[in-house]
Amino acid sequence: MLDLKAQNNLEFWMRVFEFDCKKIGVLVNLILYQTFISRHSNPIFNRCTKIVQLDTIGGWEMAKEKRVGGILQMGYGTWNRPGDEAYNGVLWALEAGCRHIDTAQGYENESDVGRAIADSGIPRDEIHITTKIAPENFGAGEVMRTSKESLEKLNVGSVDLMLLHWPAIKNEYPLESYISQFAEVYDAGMAKSIGVSNFTIPLIDETIKLLGERKIAVNQCEIHVYMQNRPIVDHCQKIGVPMTAYSPLARGAVVGDPVLADVAQKYDATGEQIALAFLMAEGHIVIPSSGKKERIFSNYEARNITLSESDMTKLRGLEKGMRLVNGDWCPLWDV
Ligand SMILES: NC(=O)c1ccc[n+]([C@@H]2O[C@H](COP(=O)([O-])OP(=O)(O)OC[C@H]3O[C@@H](n4cnc5c(N)ncnc54)[C@H](OP(=O)(O)O)[C@@H]3O)[C@@H](O)[C@H]2O)c1
Repeated sequence: MLDLKAQNNLEFWMRVFEFDCKKIGVLVNLILYQTFISRHSNPIFNRCTKIVQLDTIGGWEMAKEKRVGGILQMGYGTWNRPGDEAYNGVLWALEAGCRHIDTAQGYENESDVGRAIADSGIPRDEIHITTKIAPENFGAGEVMRTSKESLEKLNVGSVDLMLLHWPAIKNEYPLESYISQFAEVYDAGMAKSIGVSNFTIPLIDETIKLLGERKIAVNQCEIHVYMQNRPIVDHCQKIGVPMTAYSPLARGAVVGDPVLADVAQKYDATGEQIALAFLMAEGHIVIPSSGKKERIFSNYEARNITLSESDMTKLRGLEKGMRLVNGDWCPLWDV
């Protein structure tokens, strides 16, 4: 009897022990999966690149970030940042907390941006990626072919936003032909949303008609304190198309501005932060760029500044029609 009882006890404890072993095993596997596999589109064991493992922000923190038309209001721009400059810049922007990255076929850094995003260890669905189709790729079949190339370089299945970088240069291609190709890219699920860049009032109105049910998520244009681009801004705001302000620091020209400096000291901020906060208060998405870590962090803090109405009036007064992007490839800008 005693023996049987001892045996039953032993069996009982063995079952408990076995159960715990299984539980621990499942837990360990889950942790391993969470830490390594789920954070990378490619298993790290197949990669020889650096894994940085930046913190994820998580749904709650992300939900608190301001958005315009569903897009995170502050992004990081990567124009003129080739190779490692784009790679490091994107990693610093992500480290600062920014989850919106702007690139383009024409920047020739999509693979560096993709590499930084993968190496950050941040889940893909926490990061908004915009890329743009270059106007030299508007020929028959080229929009689809080069969009696929962009996704491969970025190492993603789809981007969050795909833009037409410019209208066709000197009308080399008819609008209908590249808009219909662009619609195919969207319909194929290669971009979660689509938009345009450097489109004027007549072009955007025509594009809306051509796209039918499909929505234009943004028009990305040059906007900064010195060129607030009222005609296209007012039109897009009227028809419900958000604007993304590119060159929001006027490519560095705002540095040292006395009015910005004067406003900045009231908010314990820098003039550059005020220039960005102004554009955000006007309802625009902003995508400043810097190759310096401390500036990337400082620019990203601009989203915490709330300007008073009287300071907004003062900053609107900085308008001086200083258009920086105005080459022979540009459309006839709205005035
Ligand atoms: N769709 C289009 O056609 C188009 C055209 C142009 C730009 N974009 C997009 O917009 C993004 C931003 O525009 P952008 O690069 O032309 O100009 P930007 O962001 O207005 O200015 C960038 C310049 O400002 C300097 N800078 C940045 N932060 C600073 C700070 N806190 N203090 C002092 N200087 C600072 C940078 O120098 P350091 O690097 O030395 O910090 C750089 O020279 C581009 O990267 C690109 O993604 C789109």
